[in-house]
Amino acid sequence: MNTTLCENIDWVGYVDWTVRDFHGYSTDRGATYNAYLIRDDKTALIDTVKAPFAEQLLQNIAGLTDPAKVDYVVCNHAEPDHAGAMAKVMEALPNATLVCDKKCEAALGMHHDSSGWKTHIVATGDTLSLGKRTLEFIETPMVHWPESMFTYVPEEKLLFSMDAFGQHYATSQRFDDEVQLCTAMEEAKTYYANIIMPFSKMVAATLDRAAKLDIEMIAPSHGVVWRSHITEIVEAYGNWACCRPKPKVLVIYDTMWGATGEMAAAIHEGASQAGVTAELINVRTSNLTKIATEVLDAACVAFGSSTLNQDALPMASAVLTYLKGLKPVDKAALAFGSYGWSKGGAEAADEKMKAMKWEILREPIRAQYEPNAEVLTECRAAGKLLAAKAKEMASDRKAGGKLCVDP
Ligand code: FEO
Repeated sequence: MNTTLCENIDWVGYVDWTVRDFHGYSTDRGATYNAYLIRDDKTALIDTVKAPFAEQLLQNIAGLTDPAKVDYVVCNHAEPDHAGAMAKVMEALPNATLVCDKKCEAALGMHHDSSGWKTHIVATGDTLSLGKRTLEFIETPMVHWPESMFTYVPEEKLLFSMDAFGQHYATSQRFDDEVQLCTAMEEAKTYYANIIMPFSKMVAATLDRAAKLDIEMIAPSHGVVWRSHITEIVEAYGNWACCRPKPKVLVIYDTMWGATGEMAAAIHEGASQAGVTAELINVRTSNLTKIATEVLDAACVAFGSSTLNQDALPMASAVLTYLKGLKPVDKAALAFGSYGWSKGGAEAADEKMKAMKWEILREPIRAQYEPNAEVLTECRAAGKLLAAKAKEMASDRKAGGKLCVDP
């Protein structure tokens, strides 16, 4: 495995091949926790790994240098997947000074006993010379936590971007040009949708700051390092940060006895026949991670649920709650669903989509017990309405971004 980014800058992290659940995020392709070692007149470790993998990180460091020679441990992000091993690392690197911003110092102090650590606080614009290389620090609050920070090495045009531009993607390759670009972009999109999307306004500001840097390599804290497809990933982030819509309609539903499923199929049929990408998603055969990823760049959503106890079905409610937290913006939508003797399923979906400030195109479509021919005709017409709106939105916002480019 090639772990060298450039002369004396190496990846020393951990590949977690078997993880499939990252605090609820379905990691179908596993994950990596990236840490990097810069050896110069001074030696700096950039980030650590999840606590259980501290020993592997320390072995990787020891394979390159005497641990006593590590001068700095830069912490770009205090979340435990990157700083969980910090206590063991600080203990094993006896001459290391922790380098982080003020909020990160506070966050680390709440996760670990940091009382014995030497700490050097930095802020945006501060630099630290390692010899031939310099570390420049850029605070990036809320991408992903309040204390998050980028570290830039101008001599190598190398940006350590922490969670930003990351992917949950276990592979024995370390670089974007050693894997299928489609896969790396797909996982970057999934990561953006499920981790970064709530902070999209901050991402836009961060991208503006990053645009001022001369970058030839982006080394995130998860997944592969970008060195051959920086334009594609930065352009994709620009699109995702504004949820730039594609002419795409999602029909998302849960159904108790099949009636809402029939309505969903009719809406999907109407949208499909109108020349847009239309996807039919049963929440019980998909998962939250995949649904959020599809929502990211969809223009329109039809959301349906049967009624249970005057509310939506539990999985449908869970999806809506998850989406609300992720704050996808600029969607047009409508609700639908069946009911028996009291309404509630379609109404709950309608209310939750209104709460997300999505544009609601019409009142909910309802069917008592079973959809008759008239209701199914109404559903097909609603599919066409969604498709027309999706085309209009995609055209207005000039949807773009090559999200799937083979290397
Ligand atoms: Fe990969 Fe926000 O931690």
